[in-house]
Amino acid sequence: MPKTIAILTSGGDSPGMNAAIRAVTMVATAKGHRVLGVRQGYKGLLEGKFVPIAADEVADILREGGTILHTARCQRFLDVAQRDHARDLLTQQGVDGLIVIGGNGSLAGLSLLSDPDEAKNWPVRCIGIPASIDNDIALTGLAIGVDTAMNTIVEACDRIADTASAHDRTFIIEVMGRDCGYLAMTSAIASGANMVLFPEAERTEEELVNAVVKSILTVRERHRENQKVVAIKSEGVSTTTERLKSLVDAKLSEATGQDHDDIETRVTVLGHVVRGGRPTAFDRLLGSRFGNVAVRAILAGEHRKMIAWMPPMDLPEGVGTRSAADPYCYIVDLPAVLAATKELLEGQSPLARWRATAFDDLEDVFLL
Ligand code: F6P
Repeated sequence: MPKTIAILTSGGDSPGMNAAIRAVTMVATAKGHRVLGVRQGYKGLLEGKFVPIAADEVADILREGGTILHTARCQRFLDVAQRDHARDLLTQQGVDGLIVIGGNGSLAGLSLLSDPDEAKNWPVRCIGIPASIDNDIALTGLAIGVDTAMNTIVEACDRIADTASAHDRTFIIEVMGRDCGYLAMTSAIASGANMVLFPEAERTEEELVNAVVKSILTVRERHRENQKVVAIKSEGVSTTTERLKSLVDAKLSEATGQDHDDIETRVTVLGHVVRGGRPTAFDRLLGSRFGNVAVRAILAGEHRKMIAWMPPMDLPEGVGTRSAADPYCYIVDLPAVLAATKELLEGQSPLARWRATAFDDLEDVFLL
């Protein structure tokens, strides 16, 4: 009997998920195994939404954004009885291996599903693939979708910069990223923004306002031809973008003694635009790499692991190994990923500390 590998996408979709689904299907099929898709993530799993996937059905999907399997957020999965039900359904379908493509919450769900204390001797091999535009998953350099999201933000910022320049206006552009400032930080550099506001810096509301006002006044004082200011703000910053704008306007009036209309600020919230669209070549490649390595990891008997791409710092001792199938990929312990992700999000890991201070010395450079 060929082995059956089930696959699902969970949480917020990210461009490149389809490339991973395609790679899993093609590699598993080539090795003589059956692939079973689960529609709508853990929610669909609990509802028994299984669909066989054939290699010819996925041949062209890698250029599409979103996920052909659809996705969902599923609070019910936090309930142990629901997870028992999920394990039973997978067993009834003859599943030997499960691949979950998703972000922090989805990987946490996979960790619970495969927890040896809870799952007892449940034999299904479980492997996670990191996919989230937020890039808030530890022990991998990038997750699927980050590169496409960054490119989308940069393209939007380039367009806004044109109109900001033409009107000598200030724009505060809010980008997704949940509690992680990665997308804001990297897209600020790549788009040539004048400043970036991100949660890791832990600025008070007053400090945020002062920083934006200082940037605007510094640019104005230069008396150069171009007086535009582009500030990128991560959605994770606790002050809402609209509130920040009105506080900035008030402070500008106070600082200049003029009506703030003289120095115009505008706000653009990019929202879900950032999450959609065709994946970049990089995300197609990353999804394909992860799918290939994930199938081979299952066939090699790996369990409770996440596939990673070039970790940003040295992997802690003993938590992972380099993949034999792809020298840029690593196979790391799922519980170690979740523990390191918690530290990252709480600002305690070396990477989080670096992110918090990375822009301190750059603030003045951005205004030159
Ligand atoms: O995690 C991906 C993400 O797009 C975050 O950047 C954002 O905060 C969140 O999902 C939005 O979720 P939803 O689409 O469920 O509103």
